[in-house]
Amino acid sequence: MTFVFIKTIHLFAAFIYGGFLITDNLFLNKIKRSYSEEEHAAIRESFMKYVRKVVPPSLIVAVLTGLYLISQVYGPIGPDGLTWFQSVLSLKAFLGIWLGLRGGLQVYFKIQPFVFKSHVLPFAFVITIIFLSQFMYLPV
Ligand code: HEM
Repeated sequence: MTFVFIKTIHLFAAFIYGGFLITDNLFLNKIKRSYSEEEHAAIRESFMKYVRKVVPPSLIVAVLTGLYLISQVYGPIGPDGLTWFQSVLSLKAFLGIWLGLRGGLQVYFKIQPFVFKSHVLPFAFVITIIFLSQFMYLPV
């Protein structure tokens, strides 16, 4: 019961965080095409002030609930090494923790990432995580 509850929160947090990145990279960045640079900056700020209240906490929730989930499902490492599930889940968790550290440091400690300042890298990571989160269940 606890597991299902935490997993639902995990998915919900992933939807909010991933949903924003998908919307931003596919649609909101097109605002630039119709407005001047100053207008675009003002329009972007008009919604980013709400985004900043909701999206970074969702990322933190996704990572914290993810850490709980992985502690429940990872299982022991057998003599043959990692299973398919463990390998793919490790990669997924690595990308998720990377996003959490990057986002957390940026938003809460004002440490800007040195490279890849735009939202394209988190977008690519989220798409990868979504695929990994399903392919890890393959009965390989
Ligand atoms: C932005 C970060 C993350 C996103 C977008 C994300 C997304 C997802 C999605 C879509 C699922 C699939 C749920 C399902 O099919 O029912 C999932 C499952 C899972 N996630 Fe994450 N996740 C993130 C971060 C993390 C982190 C950091 C960890 C671990 C440290 C983690 C651990 C897990 C585990 C263990 C499951 C599977 C639970 C099970 O066996 O049913 N996730 N995640």
